[in-house]
Amino acid sequence: LAGALDRALGLVREVIDFPEPGVLFRDLTPVLADRDAFRAVVDALAATVPPDVDAVVALEARGFLFGAALAAVHGYGVVPIRKPGKLPAVADRVTYDLEYGTATFELPADAVRPGQRVVVVDDVLATGGTLAAAAGLLTQAGAEVVGAAVVLEIAALGGRARAGLPVRALRVV
Ligand code: PRP
Ligand code: MG
Repeated sequence: LAGALDRALGLVREVIDFPEPGVLFRDLTPVLADRDAFRAVVDALAATVPPDVDAVVALEARGFLFGAALAAVHGYGVVPIRKPGKLPAVADRVTYDLEYGTATFELPADAVRPGQRVVVVDDVLATGGTLAAAAGLLTQAGAEVVGAAVVLEIAALGGRARAGLPVRALRVV
């Protein structure tokens, strides 16, 4: 249903100079809030996931919304990679650069087993630092990162190369 997906992605709001001057923020809130749009996006994301994965990994915060929904469509479990200080038991952590500032991710203990095939889900691929950091944590834990799924890819920032893994994007802007 390409029409439903086109309509859904047409709801993305572009906000100039947020969260700081020079950044064009892609706000997916209107997509999430719309029943048909959210369904279309989740179904399209789910269709990018190969059939033989063991778990979906969702990235805090905005990746949680799409990753958990996608995992439920397929009947997979979902592993949250979290911002620091939230998890009671941490397997590993990594600090990475964002388009604006730095951030830290933590992988929960005992959530991913060596040899598991996982797919990472996030809302937006910008510079690729976020996906690269997540993939690094998962690889270090022995998982096989078969790819990533995102709603939007911002091509001009070159994030696909930096992410270093196969990325499926519903739309490239
Ligand atoms: C945003 C977005 C992606 C990431 C993409 O997350 O949700 O996760 O930036 O940027 P990159 O490709 O340059 O790394 P952010 O950490 O800003 O906030 P969030 O917790 O709201 O998801
Ligand atoms: Mg994010």
